[in-house]
Amino acid sequence: MECQKGDGMSIIGPRKPLGAQAPQGETLAKTLGWPHLIALGVGAIVGTGIYTLTGVGAERAGPAVILAFAIAGAICACAALAYAELATMIPAAGSAYTFSYTALGETIAWVVGWSLILEYSLACSTVAVGWSGYLVGWIQAIGVALPPTLLVGPHAGGIINLPAVLVALAVMGMLVAGTRESATLNIVLVVIKLVALTVFVLFALPAFDAQNLHPFMPYGFGSTEVEGTKRGVMAAAAIVFFAFYGFDAVATSAEEAKNPGRDLTIGIVGSMLVCTAIYMAVAVAAIGAIPFLQLASSPEPLALVLRTLNQPLAAQLIALAAVIALPSVILVMMYGQSRIFFVMARDGLLPQQLATVSKRSGAPTRITVLTGLSIAAIAGFFRLDEIAELANAGTLVAFIAVGACLMVLRRNAADAPRLFRCPAPYLVGTLAILGCLYLLYSLPGATLIRFLVWNAIGLVAYFAYGRRASFARRAEADRVSRTG
Ligand code: ALA
Repeated sequence: MECQKGDGMSIIGPRKPLGAQAPQGETLAKTLGWPHLIALGVGAIVGTGIYTLTGVGAERAGPAVILAFAIAGAICACAALAYAELATMIPAAGSAYTFSYTALGETIAWVVGWSLILEYSLACSTVAVGWSGYLVGWIQAIGVALPPTLLVGPHAGGIINLPAVLVALAVMGMLVAGTRESATLNIVLVVIKLVALTVFVLFALPAFDAQNLHPFMPYGFGSTEVEGTKRGVMAAAAIVFFAFYGFDAVATSAEEAKNPGRDLTIGIVGSMLVCTAIYMAVAVAAIGAIPFLQLASSPEPLALVLRTLNQPLAAQLIALAAVIALPSVILVMMYGQSRIFFVMARDGLLPQQLATVSKRSGAPTRITVLTGLSIAAIAGFFRLDEIAELANAGTLVAFIAVGACLMVLRRNAADAPRLFRCPAPYLVGTLAILGCLYLLYSLPGATLIRFLVWNAIGLVAYFAYGRRASFARRAEADRVSRTG
């Protein structure tokens, strides 16, 4: 077990020594190779962000949503590099939560874990709502009438978004059936999703009209409130940021990787690079093809572009691909979510009963069902952009912590073995932190208030339960009493 400089209890709680992240008691089966991991990454990254939020981003930034994608991608690339180093150094389930427990102490780890719970669950709900938009568009385009009140939540005059609820519950069932089967199916879905985006670019790019890019930045650069909505390139970046994350879900599966050193690096950095290249191509093709105001607020903007270009068959194919493949994002996110809960319970911060692993599938069944039901309920009743923004707030906090962990461990555990070394770690870590802070600042005020309320609830739970039940804290207290 490696020690860091300054180990021991502090006001921010105990830190796990390096090497202590290996589980005591319940463990997860080692079933995942690098093809599974890269598919997990791409499966989690490409989803509602590019398929649906491109429209919301265009509404907020105009054609400069292309620039918003580039900014969000650059910030995520810094975070991905930090994740890759930390995930290969600390290959245990829990990602940013476990890194923070090691580098920054238990209290901050709790805040990060609590934020990750928000990230993963709301990202699942967002994608379920985005999926519902494409499903409904596709079914209506083939002439089938559906009861409108069961297709959208109360915010849009309906009762419940039933398709979104059903897809969330179906994915939950798959996860309960076992990780390996789910990850293998995920590879097939990823291929469908990537082929569909390639088809989109091939049809939309020939219609590129430079006129559609003027004015490029109608709402300016910084995020400002216009008639109750945030506008500007940074406001768009703060929402399309959603399109880039998911690679962190690969890090959450570190404990289940057969060869974490090599495979996690390929999984995290590889999937991030592939996705950034695809997004830039899709954003340029979509914005160049039709005036951005038409894209704004469509529940299925990519299908809309193709229909506007008189390509109804291609539009149907894109919608069908989204319907078939977007559940892979929910799959990976729900998987990550249940693992965060699992690790926090195993550390004693959440009730132990939650960490029970099924003997048959090797998956934490109880927690998967609990999170799946919550995700389905949120998807049924809330608005897509609001859920996505709150998920982004949780993710941004986790990325900030990861940037900090990278730098702290380079200083406190300089000699610890690292299978992947992030280039220029202090620069990359600082850029990740500053970039994420700027994105956080660019989110709507209401989102930030909701996020603070969520974390206030979390801290109450921590001080009322987690802090007292924490295994690391008890072990530290024992050690102090033994050494006098
Ligand atoms: N990046 C994922 C998506 O866009 C969460 O759906």
